[in-house]
Amino acid sequence: MRKLLTVFLLTLIAIPGSSQFLLRYPVIPKPQTLLALSGDFNLNNEVAFFVEDRSSVSAVKKETQQFRDKVQKYYGLDIRHTKSEGYRSCIYIWLDSASIPPEGYMMFINKNDINIYGSKAGVFYALESLFQLIQPGVNQGEWIIPSCNIIDYPRFSWRGMHLDVARHFFQKDYVKQYLRYMAMYKLNTFHWHLTDDQGWRIEIKKYPLLTSIGGWRDSTLLGHFSEPVDRYDRTRYGGYYTQEEIKEVVRFADSLHITVVPEIEMPGHARALLSAYPELGSGAKQNAAGTWGVFTEVMWPREETFSTLKGILDEVCLLFPGKYIHIGGDECPKEEWSKSEFCQNFMKDNHLKDEDELQSYFIQRIVTYLGTKNKKAIGWDEILEGGLADGAAVMSWRGEDGGIAAAKSHHDVVMTPVSHCYFDYYQSKNPGEPLAIGGYLPLNKVYSYDPVPASLTETEKKHILGVQANLWTEYIPTFAQVEYMIFPRMAALSEVAWSRKEIKNYDEFLSRAIRHMDFYSNMRANYSRAIYDIDATYSPAPNGNGILLSLSTIAPYGDIRYNYGGMVNLGDSAYYEPILITSSRSLRACIFTGEERMGNDFTQSFRYHKAMGKTVTLRKQPAPAYNTGGAFSLVDGITGRTPWTGSEWLGWWGDTLDVVIDLGKVDSIRRVGIYSLHDEGSWIWRPSITNVYTSVDGIHYERMTGLPVILSASGEPDIEVDTRERFPARYVKVIVQGRGIIPMGSPGSGYPAWLFVSEIIVE
Ligand code: ACM
Repeated sequence: MRKLLTVFLLTLIAIPGSSQFLLRYPVIPKPQTLLALSGDFNLNNEVAFFVEDRSSVSAVKKETQQFRDKVQKYYGLDIRHTKSEGYRSCIYIWLDSASIPPEGYMMFINKNDINIYGSKAGVFYALESLFQLIQPGVNQGEWIIPSCNIIDYPRFSWRGMHLDVARHFFQKDYVKQYLRYMAMYKLNTFHWHLTDDQGWRIEIKKYPLLTSIGGWRDSTLLGHFSEPVDRYDRTRYGGYYTQEEIKEVVRFADSLHITVVPEIEMPGHARALLSAYPELGSGAKQNAAGTWGVFTEVMWPREETFSTLKGILDEVCLLFPGKYIHIGGDECPKEEWSKSEFCQNFMKDNHLKDEDELQSYFIQRIVTYLGTKNKKAIGWDEILEGGLADGAAVMSWRGEDGGIAAAKSHHDVVMTPVSHCYFDYYQSKNPGEPLAIGGYLPLNKVYSYDPVPASLTETEKKHILGVQANLWTEYIPTFAQVEYMIFPRMAALSEVAWSRKEIKNYDEFLSRAIRHMDFYSNMRANYSRAIYDIDATYSPAPNGNGILLSLSTIAPYGDIRYNYGGMVNLGDSAYYEPILITSSRSLRACIFTGEERMGNDFTQSFRYHKAMGKTVTLRKQPAPAYNTGGAFSLVDGITGRTPWTGSEWLGWWGDTLDVVIDLGKVDSIRRVGIYSLHDEGSWIWRPSITNVYTSVDGIHYERMTGLPVILSASGEPDIEVDTRERFPARYVKVIVQGRGIIPMGSPGSGYPAWLFVSEIIVE
């Protein structure tokens, strides 16, 4: 079999890139080399597996059986095993672990047969690729696999997905489905976040209260954590996995060549544990948390805390055969430790100079204990603070700095920075998105990630084990929403984790990802169609009258069509160039591929007025977080929607809006209106005082007569000054004073109110 290695190296050749090619070979993650060939292999009931070495048949039975089951389920075909070559065409399997990189495979497909070489994992991945290549033949009901030679192996050994089952609980069958999705993308490490403040989800026989008490909470926050008034669903919520269920999931994962890494959080994120065993912390009685965030209640460094954790880890180590146990370590507030006499004495006795060193001491004891059980500890990057025990690995989440520091000090690292790997972030700016924790992580950003920081030396780079995406579930109550958040971003992650960066290409990936949306539909899995979102940008029209609206999309195929009326259809205007808006109107746009509507309609209303597209000078800048469009957004004709998102409104905190609009020439005006926002829950108040001044020369201003009045008709400004007769003006200065301090009895009372303005109209 040595000669295979030579073949392996010789066949490292470039992949052609025509779109025809892409549609024929939509494999994700992209194989390291794929040589497209003409001709097709016909997949039908005459095809059988033939395992070359008869002694290997049972060794790859699980791998071939899974392929067989899927082909049966999705294509209604029966692929059997054969002992003879009586079948017209065979899928030959050659088990070979010696001459092919770990998890790698070679697959040669021609019109007569298919030959697969690899270890068991390699054969499994070959069959995942093979399954993605199945496509309709020329005649109805026929299925083919296009000929090609593939040589493939992973870039990283840790290709992970995390799932938080503490914030919301997903029964074992959902977890198994999640694992199937991972396997489809050749992801091999499942990080199972089993414990947190809101619930303890793993049965520990020695400490039954962990699940009988810690597995349940009395209430769950409704809406977003940042809303100033908390609302709760008072239904008791919880659940846990029995040890039998855990074993079943671990066995199932193993059959998919996935290792399960369980996470037992310590010493913070421990409210659920402390609800069952308060004596492991301050002793104060508490409940599993019903809301999100970081809690001050943490474990204390008592001997019984360590002995309990050891008892828990003894059972965990038996249940999970993998090398790594995740011990959390993130977001551990130190207030309780710094205020407690016990903890302060403990620190003195153990020569720990501060609470960071106490956290480090805590983690080191656990790392050492796991070492005695032949396990390696991995933890979030906070475990570096105060020093980290040899042998522990680091999951870099707050960015890459933790991972870089860890690699430089010879610790292994998994990269999972919030910036590119947090799938609980929004993936679309569409106002109709389901509520998410915040942030914005579109598909292209996931795809662009390179887990190996350039600042590392070649030796340090070897410490980067790989990459992982995390799915925290505070705002993900159902499995359908889990699917929505991971698809198609998991496809992008898989290519980051598997494919060499030299062969990655986002546009070309997108064409394959679109084929995968058919797979998601076939699997009845929910997924995001955010790639069909239409993005709009606005700029002043060149002649100063009105605005130019530019539409764009990242979808690789399709035409944008738009109209100013109802539902967009195929007969509407195709978008070629920026659209000039010089009247009040409402635009709708949608992407079509052929006759098919893709994605959601984009809609935007414009309110035309004399200042639209004119020059605006802001004399006081808004807060950076609420300054998306800058000064121009006050005259872009977009009056701001509610519920509001940051992008349409400029926001000042406890400050004054002070702005001058230059109409470009002396015009005749009579009315100035301001669209402001009133949302007491978000500390945003309508302003208290509004003054408008006008000038013909930009030097001498006069106050506009007429009292500012507050209007409430929808679609109209909520504050206006109307002189009732026209007069000449070129410059309009508007000074709007915020509400000042929020009054007693309202959310945020005692703090300055926000002032939010979306548009200033001049008529
Ligand atoms: C984390 O997101 N707190 C690891």
